[in-house]
Amino acid sequence: MMTSLSSHRWLRPAAGDRTPRLSYGADYNPEQWPREVWKEDVRLMQEAGVTIVSLAIFSWARLEPAEGRWDFAWLDEVMDLLHDSGIDVDLATATASPPPWLVERHPEILPVTRTGETVWPGGRQHWRPTSPVFRAHALRLVETMATRYRDHPALAAWHVSNELGCHNVYDYSDDAAHAFRDWLRARYGTVDALNDAWATTFWSQIYSDWQQILPPRLAATHPNPTQQLDFKRFSSDALKDYLRAERDVLRRVTPDIPVTTNFMVMGGTGGMNYPDWADEVDFVSNDHYVTPGPQGLDELSFSANLTSGIAGGHPWFLMEHSTSAVNWQPVNQAKRPGELTRDSLLHVAHGADAVAFFQWRQSAGGAEKYHSAMVPHAGPDSDIFRTVSALGQTLTGLAPVAGSVRRTARAAILFDWESWWTSELDSHPTSRLRYHQEALDWYSAFLELGVRADVITARSDLTRYDVVVAPVLHVVPKALADRLTAYCTGGGHLVTTYFSGIVDENDHVWLGGYPGALRDLLGIRIEEMAPLADGESVMLGDGSTATLWTDRITVVDPDVTVLTDYVTGDQAGRPAVTRRTLPGGGSATYVSTRLGRHLGPLLSRLLEAADVRSELPPDARGRVELAVRVNDAGVYWFLVNRTDQSVVLPGTGGRVLVGRGDDAGTVTLAPRGVAVVHRDR
Ligand code: GLA
Repeated sequence: MMTSLSSHRWLRPAAGDRTPRLSYGADYNPEQWPREVWKEDVRLMQEAGVTIVSLAIFSWARLEPAEGRWDFAWLDEVMDLLHDSGIDVDLATATASPPPWLVERHPEILPVTRTGETVWPGGRQHWRPTSPVFRAHALRLVETMATRYRDHPALAAWHVSNELGCHNVYDYSDDAAHAFRDWLRARYGTVDALNDAWATTFWSQIYSDWQQILPPRLAATHPNPTQQLDFKRFSSDALKDYLRAERDVLRRVTPDIPVTTNFMVMGGTGGMNYPDWADEVDFVSNDHYVTPGPQGLDELSFSANLTSGIAGGHPWFLMEHSTSAVNWQPVNQAKRPGELTRDSLLHVAHGADAVAFFQWRQSAGGAEKYHSAMVPHAGPDSDIFRTVSALGQTLTGLAPVAGSVRRTARAAILFDWESWWTSELDSHPTSRLRYHQEALDWYSAFLELGVRADVITARSDLTRYDVVVAPVLHVVPKALADRLTAYCTGGGHLVTTYFSGIVDENDHVWLGGYPGALRDLLGIRIEEMAPLADGESVMLGDGSTATLWTDRITVVDPDVTVLTDYVTGDQAGRPAVTRRTLPGGGSATYVSTRLGRHLGPLLSRLLEAADVRSELPPDARGRVELAVRVNDAGVYWFLVNRTDQSVVLPGTGGRVLVGRGDDAGTVTLAPRGVAVVHRDR
């Protein structure tokens, strides 16, 4: 059960004044360094304002050098040292990377790829989420850790494993096959029901016994799509089940210590359905690394915003991001001046109450030695360390923000894992569709208009929003169709796009014409989808250029208006964007093509019709992102400069907590700078 972070003891200083604060820290890997360095570490942590570190994430081989032989002396010493320095510990269960002795004795814990290859040790996370042998050893370690440190005064939170599923989400081993069958049995009850759901009359796939069913291993051609979808669901659930198993041990031994695990909401594989995991932890944590490119900052904002949505609006913990370059992109670029601080504060703007980096001290050896850290190879006499120390002070000054919640926007983007997984399966009208990119492009359009939009999930309450954009909402079970219809008849404005409403939860097409489950609501009918070839584009009547997709639309409902049509291509003269108005004042809009980075004018029209406006002065729109947090003491405006030039914002009318402002309420944002203004409610 998620609780408010402000009730967690790690948001409060260890001693003295116990008012909430924002936490600050890093992954700390002292085992990579001789003991002499540890003393310097804690001294520098104090200098930088560090309040919490994640410890022992990859320490299994050090803690249990041989089966049942424990070596906790070094960790005891580090825990004591941290506590004596006033630094809390988010203690890992240390199970993320199994030690060599375990693999030597039990090679059957190693994952197997789709093509049947064993994933060997040598990296990390080489374990099967469904291996009973791995689980037994890991839970023994969890129990030992929990029992040893249950009363340690530094222990503020538990950090289960690390980035569950980062490298091992899809395992096709025999253990996985067994567990998959159990999962399917629980879902369908009978083989016949599974046959129906999987449409196995196709290509002679009818099963007569559970034993015949396998994970979707390398096949001669397109594997059964519902089998693939269920395997994705199962793989997410298998890791969630593992998370629960560790958590249950921790809750039994230390019922008062909150448990978390670091999600990768937008990173990694997309394989974990996090909205569905959120209830399993006491608070949500997320890791984020900037994707290089023109939408890098938008993507950061999107990820933070979605994390807040997944956390149900509760403040959350940014468990990892980087001070500068990472080591795993094709080219690992250093951050430019201002970016370190801006990136951190943008997460805070979207509800993070803790900011932590991977990692504290940059490694001298190993695969991550070129990954930036709070203390770089150059040592503390460096721009990076000076900047992280300044950020520590800034976060201390932002203590009044701790525990505040984001103010709900009037518009939202619906991001749905089921639609993500299913819309990108093979054997579709196009293999070029990228679900996340489509959603991100809508988000960028909101940012360019200076209009706040929340990123929400299918579990969120739609009725809080005047406008909901649901791009490529491909999987629409009956219940979701009903909810969307109720939303629009209740006055809400829904915007959806191509390839939406097409299939039910079994990936079976809703018959009678597209967009299937949403056809009546949208008041249109499509007989044939018409994706565009690579490099092909079409012009629309409003002057915009579109790619990827078109549809042959027939308007059915008399209350549908054609907002713009196709002027070139095979659909020339036919509707491209339609809008049905409903009696209660709501509407349902369908965008049949991909406008990518040219969505602005259309979105502006749609928002105007719903009377949703920017809260920023006209000059700042597009150049500044606004995010708002609120508590009893007031409203906090986070103003983030999206450009490389200074931006002057007149009339913000509040007390400037971060950044430069004058008495008249004018705030000047440095290039890539952030200001936080405290206003009355
Ligand atoms: C992930 C992991 C960390 C580290 C970073 C590097 O987020 O959790 O251990 O490898 O990536 O960016």
